Amino acid sequence: MLSIKGKSLLPIVQGGMGVGVSAHRLAGTVAGLGAMGTISSVDLRRHHSDLMEFTAKSRDKDQINRVNLIALDREIKAAQRLANGTGMIAVNVMKAVSEYAAYVRQACASGIDAVVVGAGLPLDLPELTSDFPKVALIPILSDARGIALVLKKWMRKNRLPDAIVIENPRYAAGHLGAAKPEDVNLPQFAFPSVLENTLQLFKDLGIESERIPLITAGGIHQHEQVDQLVKLGASAIQLGTPFAVTEEGDAHPDFKKVLVQAKPEDIVTFMSVAGLPARGVKTPWLENYLSKESKMQSKAHVQECTVGFDCLQQCGLRDGNAKAGQFCIDTRLGFALQGDVKRGLFFRGSEPLPMGSEIRSAKELINYMLNGSRESQ
Ligand SMILES: Cc1cc2nc3c(=O)[nH]c(=O)nc-3n(C[C@H](O)[C@H](O)[C@H](O)COP(=O)(O)O)c2cc1C
Repeated sequence: MLSIKGKSLLPIVQGGMGVGVSAHRLAGTVAGLGAMGTISSVDLRRHHSDLMEFTAKSRDKDQINRVNLIALDREIKAAQRLANGTGMIAVNVMKAVSEYAAYVRQACASGIDAVVVGAGLPLDLPELTSDFPKVALIPILSDARGIALVLKKWMRKNRLPDAIVIENPRYAAGHLGAAKPEDVNLPQFAFPSVLENTLQLFKDLGIESERIPLITAGGIHQHEQVDQLVKLGASAIQLGTPFAVTEEGDAHPDFKKVLVQAKPEDIVTFMSVAGLPARGVKTPWLENYLSKESKMQSKAHVQECTVGFDCLQQCGLRDGNAKAGQFCIDTRLGFALQGDVKRGLFFRGSEPLPMGSEIRSAKELINYMLNGSRESQ
């Protein structure tokens, strides 16, 4: 069992997935089943035609940011209605996003249970949320070094994380917690080693081992892995790709098809515009982009954000950073959300999926991971 802020939950967490892939329907359904469901905060206006129309042709950054906060509030309230007080609803905010602080504050003001932060070190999260002590704070980290950094910094502010997600860049989807694509396989990221070193770190810092639940994420797709990880010290597991392709996943059915039909050789690791490696499916756009990447990088130059949104604090395309990706990530992820197979960027983990190529319900996925039965329910 996973216990966060005194609430007992099933030991399965649905990871946050942007843009719009985990919105109210998926997160609210998962919470309603007694687990933790996570809404991805970034650019949620894409699920609200009125807000999208209002800003469709806008290059007014403040206006786009304002409507995105309205969309986040709507999504949180809708997820809460679906969950009806069961389980826990979290909001995922990436540290790398420009509006990180505004998204965190809005999530708290809208009554969220937990804030989960990845893609960067959330050293300032305790201050940002200090008016909302009931909100659980959960960083996503990939190795014991990052965990030590966050713990030591937070302990000076008298705060501990309410759980930590340990995401292995070797298998996970989306942005990865390694410096370069070649680094994702480093042994320091393997679950047994991160769990062992983290439990030792807790001892060294005088933290009881049960005080901070550890949630492992990345490539977990078999029921048997859950018991193995629990034996190594994990309290729960987080799934991304397997939840993205459930019936309740908030993306277009064709988005789910791309993910379930991808063969191992179709899944690639590349540099994102955020300056971090990322993993996704080599769909027509990504294949074409990768064939031109080095040429585009050699011509990288500072320019205005192509959509006037400035979604990332650091963007390789806008900032002319030749070491990072050279595409508009918000536009590409938006296409994927709509099921545009030709133009979209489809994040996906490297491993096979628990239900193979079948689209099943979130309930069936959770049941398989916990009990090993794939029977329909
Ligand atoms: C389509 C997609 C989008 C994702 N977007 C985010 C995101 O916005 N923020 C984040 O912290 N993690 C994101 N992730 C990572 C997941 O939350 C999860 O930790 C990871 O996918 C686990 O690996 P798995 O997919 O092998 O289960 C994304 C994953 C997918 C599949």
